[in-house]
Amino acid sequence: MTTQIRSLEEYHKVYAHSVANPEAFWDEQARTFQWRKPWRETLRWNFREPKIKWFVGGKLNITENCLDRHLETRGKQVAMIWEPNDLKRKARKITYKQLHGLVCQFANALKAQGVKKGDRVCIYMPMTPELSIAVLACARIGAIHSVVFAGFSAVSVSDRIKDAQCSIVITSDFNSRGPKNIPVKQVIDEALAMGCDSVRNVIVHQNTGDALKMTEGRDLWWHDVVKGKRKSCKATAVDSEDELFILYTSGSTGKPKGVVHTQGGYMVYCEYTFRNVFQIQEGDVYWCTADVGWITGHSYIIYGPLLAGATALMFEGIPTYPDAGRFWDVIQRHKVSIFYTAPTAIRALMAAGDQWVKGRRMPSLRILGTVGEPINDEAWHWYNEKIGKKRCPIVDTWWQTETGGMMISPLAGITPLKPCLATLPLPGVQPCLVDANGHEIEGNDVEGMLCIKFPWPSIIRTTYGDHERCRQTYFATFKDKYFTGDGARRDVDGYYRIIGRVDDVINVSGHRIGTAEVEDAINKAPMVVESAVVGFPHDIKGQGIYAYVITSVPIADVAAFKKGVLDTVTKEIGPIAKPDVVQIVPGLPKTRSGKIMRRILRKIAEGDTSNLGDTTTLLNPEVVDEIKASRLVG
Ligand code: WT7
Repeated sequence: MTTQIRSLEEYHKVYAHSVANPEAFWDEQARTFQWRKPWRETLRWNFREPKIKWFVGGKLNITENCLDRHLETRGKQVAMIWEPNDLKRKARKITYKQLHGLVCQFANALKAQGVKKGDRVCIYMPMTPELSIAVLACARIGAIHSVVFAGFSAVSVSDRIKDAQCSIVITSDFNSRGPKNIPVKQVIDEALAMGCDSVRNVIVHQNTGDALKMTEGRDLWWHDVVKGKRKSCKATAVDSEDELFILYTSGSTGKPKGVVHTQGGYMVYCEYTFRNVFQIQEGDVYWCTADVGWITGHSYIIYGPLLAGATALMFEGIPTYPDAGRFWDVIQRHKVSIFYTAPTAIRALMAAGDQWVKGRRMPSLRILGTVGEPINDEAWHWYNEKIGKKRCPIVDTWWQTETGGMMISPLAGITPLKPCLATLPLPGVQPCLVDANGHEIEGNDVEGMLCIKFPWPSIIRTTYGDHERCRQTYFATFKDKYFTGDGARRDVDGYYRIIGRVDDVINVSGHRIGTAEVEDAINKAPMVVESAVVGFPHDIKGQGIYAYVITSVPIADVAAFKKGVLDTVTKEIGPIAKPDVVQIVPGLPKTRSGKIMRRILRKIAEGDTSNLGDTTTLLNPEVVDEIKASRLVG
């Protein structure tokens, strides 16, 4: 187990040490894990290429650290509690010993299907224990998992499968989500019909058991492939810097890129941050409401809790099914002590009314957390008063897919809180604020673009198959710094407040969506010539998606046209990227070099048209008034 900070004084001491001597600091943490072979060198790096290696030469298997090393002391302890969507189904409790057996068995099944170290495996599954088992089974044999959120469309999955050249897809029959029964396997059928030649087999887990079409020779049932397989499987030793997983995420330009995380550093950082931020104690029941399809689920549903030997709850359903009291019901029934969710969920449940919380007894709760987007004042206070009863610290954890783990966050019960602030960097994290010229802004009570000056163990290593894109996106904007894409404020006490993205990325309900991606999708809709997408403030989602669209012909049936746009986006990306507003416009404001002036479009979307700044340098300034005018009717 990594070391756990116990007081604010100790935090400051440890932090200072981690900056003065990062290698000694991480060396000490890494030693607490099981390694097959020790590392020769703790860190080798440059941000120029970039090339970052942690625990160089070390060999390990992360699942030995998640499972095997706990068997003696925690074999009978529950590792995972599964709360199904459907209240009529029973919750499942899986002990460390059982989970070890299930992971080994499925790992043996994958091996029997010819999956080898380094192979890429696409996992497209609902929130069931088998999703975690599939992830861990890949890691057990050194295969690289690429989990794709089960809400993404066939086109999106297909793109990701092709990019990573996956040889196997693991999926489920159906996804039971609220009142819906979503055909998940059917999406894979459609995706594979778009020419994913690398895929040999599809392994299908039976979740709901509803009827399904299987393709002879390609599709295999999970229960068949595990039949007769042993519940022990020697873990494959991998190199510290071998790839553990790929996770696709959106950026300002182009298609989503595959963020690559490697074995050793990710393991060390994941456990250290989980333990310290949540101040884990024996007997805790920890619940993170994210989906394993996002980085939060990877790091803090699967790897972090298991590495720390904790008990983690996984929930299949949605916060509002069968009613808006579901989260509180689950906390009460399973005696959850640490609860980690997103501001968007808090806002939605707050909007549903206090009656869903009244009468609930949640004395087990000790610590609350939020992640994914800036939390607003009202939601913070509601969470603190109605859920935490003002006795549970709220950890506002800032981090990203690319950072692998939490970066700026309070330590629960240790760091004095300020509502809506992510507060202080975790040990080993060296943030800084930079101005538009790339100069570091010193001192407090300042604002700038958030960068990180020094590598931490789970920093992104590359973007899959395109290292140059990784360099360009994160390491080229500011020399010798990792650029986060976020703007932030450092207050008078040196506390950080994350303001939000400064690039063309929209944060919708804590999900990252690239404007370029949505535009590409919209442009495929019938009668669309060109489009521009911006974010605007949304009461529940944090940000909504506002699309300006130029059409090839005058539109008579506007409702049908808009439906066509939404359907196309759903087909190309998934329902999470559907625009909230579609406005038909005669043109888009452009600079003389042809770049869309999003600043103006953002202002109009916000409904703030009084001060649009200087528009005289535009190629087509007249279009601004036309857009303003049609907003009223459109
Ligand atoms: C972006 C990363 C980290 C897991 C979930 C999202 C925003 C994240 C916070 C926070 C304000 C936050 C940032 C960041 N973000 N956490 N506590 N306060 N903003 O991961 O999809 O990679 O998105 O989410 O804008 O850059 P992601």
